Amino acid sequence: MTVTSYQIHSPRLPSMLIAVASDLHGCPHKDAVDALQQARPDLILIPGDLMEDKMLADPSSSGYAFLRECVSIAPTFYSLGNHEIGCYHKGNPWRHPTPIPLSDQAREEIARTGAVLLDNDEVTWNGVRICGLTSGINGKENKADAEVLARFAKGDAPRILLCHHPEYFYPDIAKTDIELTLCGHAHGGQWCFFGRGVYSPGQGIFPKYTAGVLDGRCVISRGLGNHTRIPRICNPCELLLISLNQKAEENQV
Ligand SMILES: [Fe+2]
Repeated sequence: MTVTSYQIHSPRLPSMLIAVASDLHGCPHKDAVDALQQARPDLILIPGDLMEDKMLADPSSSGYAFLRECVSIAPTFYSLGNHEIGCYHKGNPWRHPTPIPLSDQAREEIARTGAVLLDNDEVTWNGVRICGLTSGINGKENKADAEVLARFAKGDAPRILLCHHPEYFYPDIAKTDIELTLCGHAHGGQWCFFGRGVYSPGQGIFPKYTAGVLDGRCVISRGLGNHTRIPRICNPCELLLISLNQKAEENQV
């Protein structure tokens, strides 16, 4: 696992250190917890695919353990990716086009960890509005909820959007003035050759949006885990540390 640090200048968001822990997929998380403990972020944000939907039904799942570890370090907010809502419900991502809503039991279990679930929902934390835009799933359903996005885009308070899919940024999110968007999902393109990812569900072959910063205000994580037997090649798992600076500094990309 690598830790990637970015400096983001955002005049409206308060200066702070944010950790982004995306796409753990229920994998072992000791390295990530060690890095979080060392970094001591002000906020931990998890933009989806922390665990598979079947893991949500198991209170002993490592995803819940990871949430508890995160909460012991910093306030933790968690939004849902395509895997939580059933993308791999029976092991075949292409035959389950309808999202499966989270059960009440899973919601209670998440609440018990102390993490805040943002399922197409938002909260205000220290004057910052934080919204979790729940993933679409596959095919035609793979799109952001336009109503949730439009509602979040209004208002005066500075905003951070957790949006699992980086391909939702253009054009829908980019045309708003949302100050910061955090994404995962693409796993850096799974295989990375000559600095370029090979494949991402939702973007296809040679995807454009797999890691790094878009438009100075959208940061994409390569993710902390893997969910298939297809290995990650030249593409280590990644924890993001984002230093938000109200004063202008050069972004490190
Ligand atoms: Fe995903």
